[in-house]
Amino acid sequence: MSALYDRIGASYSATRGADPRIEALIKDALGDARSVVNVGAGTGAYEPTDREVLAVEPSATMIAQRRRGSAPALQARAESLPLPDQSFDAALAVNTLHHWTDLRAGLRELRRVARKRIVIFMRDPRRGQPFWLTEDYLPSLDPSRKYSAVADAIGEELPSVKALPFALPRDCADGLFVAYWGRPEMYLDGEVRRNISNFALAEEGNLAEGLARLKADLASGEWDRKYGELRRLESLDLGHRVLVAELA
Ligand SMILES: C[S@@+](CC[C@H](N)C(=O)[O-])C[C@H]1O[C@@H](n2cnc3c(N)ncnc32)[C@H](O)[C@@H]1O
Repeated sequence: MSALYDRIGASYSATRGADPRIEALIKDALGDARSVVNVGAGTGAYEPTDREVLAVEPSATMIAQRRRGSAPALQARAESLPLPDQSFDAALAVNTLHHWTDLRAGLRELRRVARKRIVIFMRDPRRGQPFWLTEDYLPSLDPSRKYSAVADAIGEELPSVKALPFALPRDCADGLFVAYWGRPEMYLDGEVRRNISNFALAEEGNLAEGLARLKADLASGEWDRKYGELRRLESLDLGHRVLVAELA
């Protein structure tokens, strides 16, 4: 099964570990669910270890990076889950919906296989604070349009969904696109960028000018003059939300 992350995910686990605060948030949102299907599970970063879990993931490269002893993984896509109706208490999807080819079909599949609730963790860039990297340096990486479509599809397919904002800690352990909002030097690191799909999918040539300008602004102190206060904040709301849809 060919998959995007077979191409871009080879070193994913190097910078994309689970952040314990996001982990706690997700565990809380799963509530009393005793069985969980984790769709778009990747390397298994946010899978709870205190309940029965099945991972569903299309990329063999990502499945190969799952830790020994982690939950069993099924190679499949969200749009067509090879699972019976209502076979898990909860369906979980973490930072994956924006990759699904047919988002609505995937959401309908989550609803079909879950008995009690659906838990989604994602960023909606239309919420929270503007992100300096896309505002000032790399506007071509602004994912707002794509995420608007994701948020609209969720609203239509899961009308009962409730959203809880999550301010991203400055030392976030999961190297997400916006994780380095207060550690700008990290965006100059090629390995960090390789494990962020927004960067990995972009043409290198389109990023060169913005990255060069960021490097120069960091060296001259210009970045700190404009944004230096971010280095002192503990956390920042950049639009991450945990979404919970109760089904029962
Ligand atoms: C950014 S990673 C997140 C992985 C994991 N949930 C985490 O938080 O570490 C996105 C994952 O979605 C998977 N993915 C892409 N298209 C998918 C689809 N159509 N159905 C299910 N998963 C998909 C990718 O292969 C990748 O593992």
